[in-house]
Amino acid sequence: MSNFDFSAYTDLVIKATGDKASPRVKEAMPILIRKVHEFLIEADVTTEEWLAACNLLVEAGQVSSDKRNEVVLVTDILGIESLVNTLDQTRSQRKGLPDNEDATFSAILGPFYRAGVPVQENGTTIIRQAEEGAPYTHLFGTIHDADGKPLPNALVDIWHDAPDGLYDAQTPEKPEYHCRGRFRTDENGRYDTVCLKPTPYPIPYDFSAGKLLKLLDRHPYRPAHIHFWIEAPGHRTLVTQIFDRQSDYLKDDSVFAVKDNLIVDFKPIPKDYQAPAGLENRMVHELQQDFHLQRA
Ligand code: BEZ
Ligand code: FE
Repeated sequence: MSNFDFSAYTDLVIKATGDKASPRVKEAMPILIRKVHEFLIEADVTTEEWLAACNLLVEAGQVSSDKRNEVVLVTDILGIESLVNTLDQTRSQRKGLPDNEDATFSAILGPFYRAGVPVQENGTTIIRQAEEGAPYTHLFGTIHDADGKPLPNALVDIWHDAPDGLYDAQTPEKPEYHCRGRFRTDENGRYDTVCLKPTPYPIPYDFSAGKLLKLLDRHPYRPAHIHFWIEAPGHRTLVTQIFDRQSDYLKDDSVFAVKDNLIVDFKPIPKDYQAPAGLENRMVHELQQDFHLQRA
């Protein structure tokens, strides 16, 4: 076996694909097979290592449900979700197609998005339980269309973690939709709410993702961020995150989602700010965050 032809073997596997495979499968799968074979050969992978990798994925699948996708989490740790997200965002530009140069960068959705959150009035808070000692933030901004004009009636979905580093779905004992809310932009394309300054938190690391992090000698933390999902007819839905410049982990996000132009500054609240009733003494920061959408 010393003169086994590895290259001919890879070609044999690639050529086994049938004629009825779709054009996309015929385009992408040979690349995948070739790169995976190259990796296996170059790293000289053993049967024991291959089985351990299969078992990690099997376990990730077994613990996954409609509430938890451990397989996605495993890909996050390897930078895969964020890379695919960046490929999506830059595809038009890389292919020389029309593109909005001013479009806000996207970032990964993550597992804590919730569909169907009720829309609330602009100017109302998404903090649904008093968070003593936590700095409250006036968060507002304008959504712009692909021509740079303010976009009325756009849907703005916002969510972030509470000071304990947990999202609402992880703490059923707290009020529903704590630190989460949906808004419609007004006639000037503006949304307006009160949120918290988010805090860094660990991604769930009690299962396969945690095992992989341990193997790689890595921590599970994400820098403090706020998630946005912005939707308007005729426009590509923008899913993104903004990151607090003062946060730890900006340079070593466990899921590699930070982009420089999504790092923002929480500023001191202006003296003349009119706080919503009951929050007069709580307001510490202001954050104006505008977004630019791309045509669908
Ligand atoms: C998040 O930002 O919510 C998130 C993203 C990837 C993995 C875990 C959490
Ligand atoms: Fe998050």
